[in-house]
Amino acid sequence: MKGVILAGGLGTRLHPLTKVTNKHLLPVYRKPMIYYPIEAMVAAGIRDVLVVTGGNSAGDFLKLLGNGSDFGLPTMNYTYQEGEGGIADALRLARHFADDDPICVILGDNIFEMSVKHAVDDYRKQGGGARILLKEVPDPERFGVPVLDGEKVVRIEEKPKNPQSQYAVVGLYMFDPHVFEVIETLQPSNRGELEITDVNNWYIDNGKMSWSVLDGWWTDAGTFDSLLRASQLVAKTGANNA
Ligand code: G1P
Repeated sequence: MKGVILAGGLGTRLHPLTKVTNKHLLPVYRKPMIYYPIEAMVAAGIRDVLVVTGGNSAGDFLKLLGNGSDFGLPTMNYTYQEGEGGIADALRLARHFADDDPICVILGDNIFEMSVKHAVDDYRKQGGGARILLKEVPDPERFGVPVLDGEKVVRIEEKPKNPQSQYAVVGLYMFDPHVFEVIETLQPSNRGELEITDVNNWYIDNGKMSWSVLDGWWTDAGTFDSLLRASQLVAKTGANNA
């Protein structure tokens, strides 16, 4: 299994903090934001990691992350997303790197209290398809939200005005290599982006999606409030704990 961290975008919700730098380089307590998803990958036993960046300060990732040795990785892989095509468009750039292996994708602004190793191991046993993680949140309308029928996720709605559940789909997804074919079939959403939610809905519609509820706290860090909360949570408990 290979790991892909998506760290592009213009981070406009954090202007002016992101006017000259990339959101994922901003501090979350004692480390740059992108350290947390990389450490999550490493804690899950993933050794091949690709960072997809773009937007401002893309070159600074090389300076910050170098060859990955600070994280105990044998090397670090990079690619560059032109423009603002969305999460699924950024993921498309990982096709060559994935080279027919399954992948674990983490959004570069997602931070986890507990190690995600269990979830990654569950996917390894699953033998194909996709897997998502859900977390109960007070503000599901900010996220992808699952519509549940008993134990079954029947679809995911992206930032719905009237959420059908209290869960958010967290920014960690596991896919088989077919994901790259799925991305090629997507149409841009109303916000002009290729949505990861549409990729997930393809796996749901084709009966190939599994899910579990995430343990421990989880937060994104892409708004002023969530960025502040991320620092407070990390200061209190640390992240990616065993
Ligand atoms: C993205 C996804 C959304 C997911 C969220 C997790 O939202 O589109 O489905 O719940 O990440 O952080 P965005 O960061 O684009 O608001």
